[in-house]
Amino acid sequence: MTAPSHREAPAAGGLAALGADAQRARMSYGEGALVVCDQVVRIYSGEGIEVQALQGLDLLVDAGELVAIVGASGSGKSTLINILAGLDTPTAGRVRVAGQDLGALSAKERLVYRRRQVGFVWQQTSRNLLPYLSAKQNVVAPMWLAGSRRRLREQRATELLEVLGVAHCASRVPSRMSGGEQQRAAIATALANDPKVLLADEPTGELDSHTAQEVFTALQTANAELGVTVLVVTHDPAVSHQVRRTVAIRDGRTSSETLRHDAPDELGNTVRQAVEYAVLDRVGRVQLPREMTERHQMRNRVVLRSLDDHIGVWPDRGGEEERRGEEER
Ligand SMILES: Nc1ncnc2c1ncn2[C@@H]1O[C@H](COP(=O)(O)OP(=O)(O)O)[C@@H](O)[C@H]1O
Ligand SMILES: [Mg+2]
Repeated sequence: MTAPSHREAPAAGGLAALGADAQRARMSYGEGALVVCDQVVRIYSGEGIEVQALQGLDLLVDAGELVAIVGASGSGKSTLINILAGLDTPTAGRVRVAGQDLGALSAKERLVYRRRQVGFVWQQTSRNLLPYLSAKQNVVAPMWLAGSRRRLREQRATELLEVLGVAHCASRVPSRMSGGEQQRAAIATALANDPKVLLADEPTGELDSHTAQEVFTALQTANAELGVTVLVVTHDPAVSHQVRRTVAIRDGRTSSETLRHDAPDELGNTVRQAVEYAVLDRVGRVQLPREMTERHQMRNRVVLRSLDDHIGVWPDRGGEEERRGEEER
């Protein structure tokens, strides 16, 4: 009879099938998203000290979104942005942008990725533009490097400076522009080769609030009018409150998200409503906000109970909650 070998075959096939299932789950995570961070880890090591800057960070961003990224200093925001920009590589996990697996790029492909798929704006205004070139020459430079034709370069540079409200700076060198004008010209430069994603790491960090607003408006314009997906790291609540989606990073992981939408109030006026969500990752982890765990003295262990339409979380009081739960039942 062939029964035994039949029994063996599925076992062997079972292992392969499991592997294939895991592979499919990895592939299908974030299918259709423009930016996929799948359990990204980045460990810096040196001089015997190891810093886990990213600790299994998951993030999905759809094409056309404008997302603000917030978090305390040292939470891993710049590490994330540098990885997405192709300037750094993760220690583990997968990063996919516009269908490209950033971990699998050759040096040459990485260069092309950085030149064409992403645009980058630094916080330091002086780092974004070449000091001896005019604003327009700065915008033209990346197109020249990418080999686009002269007429096209000139035309696009003029258009970009116009859209970003700095057409009047076209022939000025950065030292003759204000900080806000320099950042807007920097955005134009970052957009020169029509990237899919624009990354900005605290682009308004060095600016006063009025100028910061102008620069942020330029990012919104780039998103709305040119259709580029924008990820902007910011410390400025005035900025993060204007976007529909704010992602908070804590200890190298996305910990919560705030989504905002416009809705009518009782008087029929349109008001912006914000809802804060905790991030539930694929293996079921949720980060409880520190102010909540401290307030309820939750440490090491908590009691979880599935209730009608939600899950309750209680501090560990040596079984007291359990007993009370039994009595209620
Ligand atoms: N090149 C590096 N070498 C060692 N540690 C680093 C390096 N860059 C960042 N770190 C550390 O990684 C953590 C996250 O840093 P970073 O991504 O710059 O945070 P953020 O931008 O949110 O302030 C911090 O603890 C920081 O000190
Ligand atoms: Mg930073």
